Amino acid sequence: MGPMEEKVESLFRVDRVVQPTAETKAAAYIQDYEAAYKKSIADPEAFWSTVAKELEWFTPWQRVLEWNYPWAKWFVGATCNISYNCLDRQVKTWRKNKVAVIWVGEQGEERIFTYGELFRQVCRCANALKALGLRKGDRVTIYLPKIPEQIVAMLACARLGVIHSVVYSGFSAPALESRIQDAESRVVITADVGYDRGKVINLKSVVDQAVANCRSVERVVVVRREPSSPALSAPKELDWHDWLDKEKAVCAAEPLDAEAPLYILYTSGTTGKPKGVVHVHGGYMVGTYITTKYVFDLKEEDVYFCVADPGWVTGHSYIVYGPLLNGATILTAEGKPDYPNPGRWWHLIERYGVSIFYTTPTGIRLLMRYGEEWPKKYDLSTLRVLGTVGEPINPEAWEWYHRVTGGTKPIMDTWWQTETGMIMVTPLPCVPLKPGSATRPFLGVEADVVDRAGKSLPANAGGFAVITKPWPAMMRTIYKDPDRYQVYWNTIPNCYTAGDVCRKDEDGYLWFMGRADDVIKVAGNRIGTAEVESALVSHPAVAEAAVIGKPHKTAGEAIKAFVILKQGQQESQDLIKSMKDQVLKELGKIAVPQEIEVVSSLPKTRSGKIMRRVLKAKELGQDPGDISTLEE
Ligand code: WTA
Repeated sequence: MGPMEEKVESLFRVDRVVQPTAETKAAAYIQDYEAAYKKSIADPEAFWSTVAKELEWFTPWQRVLEWNYPWAKWFVGATCNISYNCLDRQVKTWRKNKVAVIWVGEQGEERIFTYGELFRQVCRCANALKALGLRKGDRVTIYLPKIPEQIVAMLACARLGVIHSVVYSGFSAPALESRIQDAESRVVITADVGYDRGKVINLKSVVDQAVANCRSVERVVVVRREPSSPALSAPKELDWHDWLDKEKAVCAAEPLDAEAPLYILYTSGTTGKPKGVVHVHGGYMVGTYITTKYVFDLKEEDVYFCVADPGWVTGHSYIVYGPLLNGATILTAEGKPDYPNPGRWWHLIERYGVSIFYTTPTGIRLLMRYGEEWPKKYDLSTLRVLGTVGEPINPEAWEWYHRVTGGTKPIMDTWWQTETGMIMVTPLPCVPLKPGSATRPFLGVEADVVDRAGKSLPANAGGFAVITKPWPAMMRTIYKDPDRYQVYWNTIPNCYTAGDVCRKDEDGYLWFMGRADDVIKVAGNRIGTAEVESALVSHPAVAEAAVIGKPHKTAGEAIKAFVILKQGQQESQDLIKSMKDQVLKELGKIAVPQEIEVVSSLPKTRSGKIMRRVLKAKELGQDPGDISTLEE
């Protein structure tokens, strides 16, 4: 985390407030956020235990929370199983024949699983894992493209108390190897190939390279998709279908301690060596269940489409666990938003009657570049609730998203992290929205903006985003590195430090301003990246922007901006000048970039976050450090 002595300047103001429509409000589970929030934080343990009772437990808890700072245990003494709650709990009811997952492949192929069918597949897979001798506490690495087997494998591991480590299938062999080594996985589940904009990606050869030096790996299971897929070498390599087909379609879910680890998910954010974030069955189940239900106002008849890959935490919490715990119908699609054309997502929304759509600001900005004619071609009237995650959404992108989807659908700008497991700061559909703000903490969550000493800052002063109380879906540790876990709770006394800079406005709305590491110090003023980038993107010619600080003789640092222009725009001195004027107008002199460079792409993590650290290293001719998470 960067230097945190001083406050962060916040220059950005938006006055627009978007009220929920009467229809949205009347339909919502929570119609009065203020009252519900007040009640929830007056007695958070009562709030969380009431939520937990909506789920099934094999044995009840003795205590809701055991808080031994900075270590938390939730639902102490209880036994449960998240896979049981996702599947068995549904198939016991009429939902056994409800559609659980609609999967669409890059080529448009479709596979549909009812809860009953998903349950049977998961049981077969769990039995197959058992047959290999896997037991509670063992680790399995899942390195699959976005196909339903990814979901099946996760739920099968969970069923047995086997800990899954899903690695996004875009990672290189060394990145995969280090994650397998750290987890000491006994089994790796992969596919022969993945597809990316029509290109065939040979995943199996990546796995071959990665496991060559991994002594823990006993078996590699391969989902074969291509008819020409090379033969496997027995006994180490197994064909997924042969492996599953002989197994029985029932397998009892293991009763697990509420604190039993569910998964490890490696995250590096935008800096440093990957950390294995550990989540557990009980608390994570409660947190993902209720946030999915309330944030998206998820109802029985909704079709819920989240564009993430289960390789990221968004996929874990809001494609797999949260929605299945709610018995939802989930749409998931392989491939990129602009392939085969920029109408891809809009087409899927029309085709499947999607009512809840959860995406990213990067995705929206990508589609904005192609213009409004794409969404206009499709019937998007089934949409009811929208969401974004992953970065601050700049008001420009917010307005576009709002407009092209009909102008009345609430946008849930959800702030959270791999480490938090669940959405932490977010509107609910009944909350008045301010474009660019993630608004208020979720029920039962206490968030604040503080200085380094942990002192709450007055309204509109920029500082550090913190969570001041434990919450059920919080990570329990960093795998094999408890010291690194403690850093999150030790950086600022008595709170969880998220590493983001933020301001809270006079209505208590939170405005995230970027990562603390990326803060730029200009003439003594510390400026968050998001505000400057947002001001640049509000220029009609700019599609995307990233800013960094560069050493400067008198000012300490000067701002350098990298921008991608919209289609059809030409670079010129006048254009650069008008971009600077735009920042001047939006934020003031202090935030105006000294230099603006037009580029055709920006370094991003595979989940779409800009890696400013890499831009900066390149600019200054320094070593960028670990770049295993870089997309290109
Ligand atoms: C950023 C993704 C502003 C933030 C779920 C956080 C956001 C990091 C938002 C976590 C948002 C995520 N507004 N910033 N709505 N959502 N972030 O672990 O910097 O991949 O700390 O989890 O993304 O990224 P991660």
